[in-house]
Amino acid sequence: MEKRKIAYLLLSVVCTILIVYALANNYVLDPGREHFLSSKTGLQRELNVSVWLKVMYIHVAFACLAMASGLLNFSKHTLDSHRKLHRVNGYIYLFSVLIVLLTSGYMAPYATGNQISSIGFNVLNLTWLFTTITAFVHIKRKRITLHRAWMVRSYAFCFNNMLIHLFTAILHDGFGLGYTSSYTIGIYGSIATIVTVPTLINRRQRFQK
Ligand code: HEM
Repeated sequence: MEKRKIAYLLLSVVCTILIVYALANNYVLDPGREHFLSSKTGLQRELNVSVWLKVMYIHVAFACLAMASGLLNFSKHTLDSHRKLHRVNGYIYLFSVLIVLLTSGYMAPYATGNQISSIGFNVLNLTWLFTTITAFVHIKRKRITLHRAWMVRSYAFCFNNMLIHLFTAILHDGFGLGYTSSYTIGIYGSIATIVTVPTLINRRQRFQK
């Protein structure tokens, strides 16, 4: 099988697992998020748990939609044979990103780890908005290669939650660091990964041409 196809297949498997896990964990297994919420100590504003949870449910639903619609649009088959689907689905991705950003904007001031974590989430918000709009502007100007490269950068943000929890688990469970500190470092670890990996993917694709 072609390398590109194998990579897409692997990505599809990872995304499916993440989507099923996010939906099952947040809507069925742990809808109250008691353990996660108990790690929020010393918040500067009072947290309204019921509103936070409702916002988080919307956040997760659209985050999963962004991940699924982005995945579909990276398929060579969709791009080559179903241009209209690619376009409509592109708008679904754009809309989903905006909803994730709005909900994230609400949750960021209450982030676990307080101000340093909030700053990290705001950096994520601004850079995701910037990369997504840049990808959109490039395709409106018919610059396909640049659109693709910026979509790779934008799509990487869909793995933010998984990366934060991966770094947190390594630091907290693996090295015994406190949960809150591990989570805060996880946010910055995620930012570093989201910036680095797409750069490497785009560079590799340029060399392969
Ligand atoms: C697209 C994939 C994403 C998924 C599946 C996702 C899922 C979640 C979930 C389940 C939570 C609840 C807390 C937890 O379990 O970690 C959460 C919180 C949060 N997410 Fe996302 N998220 C995603 C992307 C993003 C992105 C890209 C941003 C920022 C641009 C973001 C910002 C936030 C913020 C600010 C919180 C609150 C964190 C806290 O209370 O400490 N999320 N997300």
